[in-house]
Amino acid sequence: MFNFDFYNPTRILFGENRLESIDKYVPAEATVLITYGGGSAKKSGLINKIKTVLGNRKVYEFGGIEPNPRYETLVKGVEIVRNENIDFLLAVGGGSVIDGTKFITLASYYKGNSRDLLKYGMMPIPLDVVGKVVPFGTVLTLPATGSEMNSGAVISYEHGKYAVMSELAFPKFSILDPTITFSLPKTQVANGVIDAFVHTTEQYLTYPVDGKLQDRIAEGILQTLIEIGETTVVEPENYAARANHVWCATLALNGIVGAGVPQDWASHMIGHELTALFGIDHGQTLAIVLPSLLEVRREQKRAKLLQYAERVWHIEGGSDKEKIDLAILKTREFFESLGVKTRLSQYGVGADKIPVVIEQLKAHGMTALSETQDLTLDISQKILEGAV
Ligand code: NZQ
Ligand code: ZN
Repeated sequence: MFNFDFYNPTRILFGENRLESIDKYVPAEATVLITYGGGSAKKSGLINKIKTVLGNRKVYEFGGIEPNPRYETLVKGVEIVRNENIDFLLAVGGGSVIDGTKFITLASYYKGNSRDLLKYGMMPIPLDVVGKVVPFGTVLTLPATGSEMNSGAVISYEHGKYAVMSELAFPKFSILDPTITFSLPKTQVANGVIDAFVHTTEQYLTYPVDGKLQDRIAEGILQTLIEIGETTVVEPENYAARANHVWCATLALNGIVGAGVPQDWASHMIGHELTALFGIDHGQTLAIVLPSLLEVRREQKRAKLLQYAERVWHIEGGSDKEKIDLAILKTREFFESLGVKTRLSQYGVGADKIPVVIEQLKAHGMTALSETQDLTLDISQKILEGAV
């Protein structure tokens, strides 16, 4: 196992009827800015309920944070924080609203041009560069990204998606009430299962370092998602299934699974380009890329793919090659069982578009991806060709 630092200060408030906790964990004197997306949280009455709990606190609202939140939108939120002396942010939404709020948190007191915060990628932004931040909490409405309990954000700018990492961007608290997610469209629920699944495989399907506990936690998350996946999509108000979905998604990317083990993230980096270029949802891009990536990288990932076949899919018979073939096939079939298409062409993107994706990967410096940093543009090209 590798050496690691693990730090996670986010308080999780899980279960039904937890909105009252907002009163306890938002300072009584705070001036609050509620951030939200395109309107689902307004329409469902959630924002009004939250305002009632906030009571006499002075409250402002900033709506319109779009999926794959854009820098140009978020700087408008920064203006409100500065002009109204906001001292607590409350993000009500999915990964996009929470990520956008993290950016507002980091940018509000940043002295330079806040676009600079996009240049660090997966490297944490040095603490002294950020300086003062605005604390924030979240009310999660979409179980997928894990953003509710981690310190990362993904921000869209021009034709790219940029990772922003800072330990100053952990939420103070996150309310995880599965019933708040009942109003989600099926496609978003399915996207959420796939995102959590692929966050786990990015930190598990690499090479063995004898991280026995991390492996078993990862396998537990994957098996739980396989067990409840179809139910959480088909029965939107099945509390037990959704509760497990929510907690899997949070645990998949709160630092536990990835502590002390190699991490890949190539499916995500290639997937981000597909979203930026063609507007394909984040979860869908992962369903397209992962099966093909596992096929192309089967030798590098051989030992863990066999472990995955045996322990996650319970494949016992056959040669090693047959076990790996079947594990990859079952992964694809699982995504498809959720109603998510796994081929690029099914989203209207043909092989003729692959050179554009490769150009974008190059422009964004994504030329040495994966747990071994030897996944070059040629290999990304093979993965994309296999994904058509
Ligand atoms: O905007 P509204 O009207 O709220 O509608 C949203 C949006 O259209 C809707 N929705 C959310 N909760 C709902 C609801 N509709 C009905 N009822 C509810 N309860 O769902 C749509 C998608 O929302 P979005 O927040 O974009 O989805 P998701 O949570 O999948 O977030 C995706 C974003 O997170 C980033 C992705 O790149 C993408 O930008 N990621 C963030 C990560 C992180 N911070 O750690 C890691 C991930 O790998 C990912 O990259
Ligand atoms: Zn993801």
